[in-house]
Parts: sequence; structure tokens; C-alpha cells
Amino acid sequence: MTPEEFTFTKFANNAFYRRQNATLIDMAGVGSGQRIVDLACGNGGVTKLIVERLRGARDSVIIAIDHSSEMLRLAMEELRDARTAAVQYVQSQVEQVSEAVKESADTVFFCNAIHYVPDKEQLLTEISRALKPGGKLAFNTAFFDGAHPPDTMVFARKWMMRSVRILRREHGLSIVRSDKVESRNQLTPEEYRELLEDNGFRIVKQEIETVPVPMEGWRDISGFKDFIGGAMPGVPMDKASQALQAGCEQIFAEMKREFVDRNWLRIVAVRV
Ligand SMILES: C[S@@+](CC[C@H](N)C(=O)[O-])C[C@H]1O[C@@H](n2cnc3c(N)ncnc32)[C@H](O)[C@@H]1O
Repeated sequence: MTPEEFTFTKFANNAFYRRQNATLIDMAGVGSGQRIVDLACGNGGVTKLIVERLRGARDSVIIAIDHSSEMLRLAMEELRDARTAAVQYVQSQVEQVSEAVKESADTVFFCNAIHYVPDKEQLLTEISRALKPGGKLAFNTAFFDGAHPPDTMVFARKWMMRSVRILRREHGLSIVRSDKVESRNQLTPEEYRELLEDNGFRIVKQEIETVPVPMEGWRDISGFKDFIGGAMPGVPMDKASQALQAGCEQIFAEMKREFVDRNWLRIVAVRV
């Protein structure tokens, strides 16, 4: 595998994952004549869902933002055939969203990426600047304190232990322990509430859904570089990915499981 193959696309195409993003979009609602931001747009899966809901409304604008030029290229490809409102692609850090957006937006979607951002207060100040008064911020994440249902801990532990063993036996490699990556510094739903309220937002909807994730989902996330780097720091991507995928398949078979649950948090907040 070449490094550019460790993208998010394969995982993002899982039906259960698309459904999580679709549910968030429907919870916030989108309409014609709006200026909508898709923050950390990745490969464009969310952008495409927004476009579908706008049903060809030509007076809407979607601004798809990501810091990765590779992701923006994939997003453009994903939306090649979309007949719709204008989609603008902007390469920017999410921490500078107000500059990237220029005119203020009706809604900012921020799917599956808030856990990457170390300074969430600064981020919320920026998102607030990018929104009209009364504008909405809608985000979701499966990396929060509470994402692992207690009865899935056994799976998680066995999977990691098996993958580490495969890595050692088949490749003679070990994990290099370092500082925790940011996506592991996870907030509770209550901490998200306080953060939003302290930074000029009011939550209008909040849900946690327990999602049965099939083996393919866990295997595909093991092919995404951010996940691999978090789970097996300091190990070459191809070897780490192979060990995680083999470990996943073996533990699913041994535990005779079809799914392992994961909790997804989704929040819609309004700029007050
Ligand atoms: C897990 S993907 C989520 C993609 C998409 N939002 C979705 O839900 O399918 C995370 C994305 O966040 C982007 N990203 C992470 N940190 C970022 C930052 N500080 N500024 C801009 N983009 C960032 C990555 O490049 C990647 O495309």
C-alpha cells in the first residue's frame, strides 16, 4: 500500500457512518437560500448529503473546508456530478474558519472532527464569528468520554492485545509510546454543554445514539491513517494497519460477534 491509500474514504462509505451524518444534517435542517459550511469536509461525504437535501436549489452556497489538499481533491471528485447550488472548496485550518468563510453563514456542520481540535474555546469563538446571529452549529463525534459502551471494553482490549501480538510476531515491531494524540483527550457530553454555553451558544438538540458497528466498520477504520497513528504510534502505517485489521477479524470470529456498539454524540447549538 502507498501512503495515500490510508485515507478516510473506505470507512466513510460504510452505510452506518453515512447514516450518522445524515441524521445530524436532518436534525439541524438545511434549506434553499442558505450559506452552509461543511467544516473538515474530508472526502466530501457530508457535503454530498447536504447537496442532496438542497435538491438542486441554486441559490444556496456550500463552503467545504479542510486543511488537507488531498481531502479537498477527493471531495471535488465526489461532487463532480452534483447538480446544485455552488460548492466552494477552501483549504484552511478549522481554527481560522471565519476568515475562510468571509460572509457569515446560516449553519456550520462539523462532522467527526471536533475531537481533533486542542483549543476548543478558540474554535468556538471562530465558529461564532463565522455564523449569523441565530445561526446553527451542528457537530457529531464518536470520540467523546462515553463513546465506548461498558460491554464493549472486552472487545477493545482483546483487539488491541491481539494486534500488538501480530505486529511483534509477524513484523518484529512494537508500539512507540508517546504523548497521547489529541483525539484521545475526550470531553464528556456535559463538558461539551459547558463549553458551548460559556462561548455564546445554546444547545437546542442533543442526542446519543448507540450504533451497532459491523466488523467491516472496525476493519475499515484500521485503514485510516489518523486512527492507525492513534492506536499504534511510531509503527509504519502498512504494518500497523495490517496488524489491526487481522486482529479485528480474529477477535470478531473468536467472540462470535456480528457487531460491536459505539456511541455517537450529536449536538445542534444556536449562536445566541
Ligand atoms: C475523520 S475526517 C471527517 C470527514 C467528514 N467531516 C466526515 O464526517 O466524514 C476528519 C477530517 O478533518 C480534517 N481536519 C482535522 N483537523 C483539521 C484542522 N485543524 N483544520 C482543518 N481540517 C482538519 C482532516 O483533514 C479530515 O479530512
